[in-house]
Amino acid sequence: MSKPKFVPLTTYREYAEDEMQRRAAEFYEEANRRRTVREFSDRPVDRRVLDDCLRAAGTAPSGANLQPWHFVVVTDPEMKRRIREGAEKEEREFYEHRAPQEWLDALAPLGTDSNKPFLETAPALVAIFAQNSGTRPDGSPIKHYYAVESVGLASGILISALHHAGLATLTHTPSPMGFLNELLERPANERPFLLLVVGYPADDAEVPDISRKQLEEFVTSF
Ligand SMILES: Cc1cc2nc3c(=O)[nH]c(=O)nc-3n(C[C@H](O)[C@H](O)[C@H](O)COP(=O)(O)O)c2cc1C
Repeated sequence: MSKPKFVPLTTYREYAEDEMQRRAAEFYEEANRRRTVREFSDRPVDRRVLDDCLRAAGTAPSGANLQPWHFVVVTDPEMKRRIREGAEKEEREFYEHRAPQEWLDALAPLGTDSNKPFLETAPALVAIFAQNSGTRPDGSPIKHYYAVESVGLASGILISALHHAGLATLTHTPSPMGFLNELLERPANERPFLLLVVGYPADDAEVPDISRKQLEEFVTSF
């Protein structure tokens, strides 16, 4: 094992207390404006914007810095059509047979069903894969630790970055998602994690009237 190499921390910035408070409040306000959108316009998105948001996702912390993620950007109409077909097949099975009543009850306020037109209407889909293992530069295999946690963090950063840039997203999880490996030619060590639908909301888009928990409901302190 070679000795680890360290460099000075040059990227950290400290802010004056009032500036810090302002930044934190502004970040919360912006995050609180994000809503999951299920009605998209077909307006194309700028690939450079998508790429910067993906770069931001790639800055996520990851277990042992193994960065166990892979993102597939799909804008090709025929591939989107095939993804819709695969997702709707699983979703029909889910809504009509597999889903326990309790789960259907939890989904009821969202008004979702097995129809997923947004998978074709939205200009971009980002299929996010978690890699259970990888390969070292010398080609030997390496197990990825905390892959799910790491990819969850990267996905959260991606969703926030897209929202920050002015794009809308839908976090979609057709279950199971194995069809994505086949369609998008991803290897067996990768598990589909999320299918993120990205674009502009339709002009008349509506969202479910649901609420978020208040701080006191989800934070305790010692
Ligand atoms: C892991 C995960 C899976 C989700 N899967 C779906 C899905 O398959 N279909 C869908 O319409 N929304 C899905 N959502 C979106 C949630 O329903 C949505 O985030 C929640 O209702 C809160 O709404 P908001 O994002 O507008 O705050 C998913 C969200 C998460 C975090």
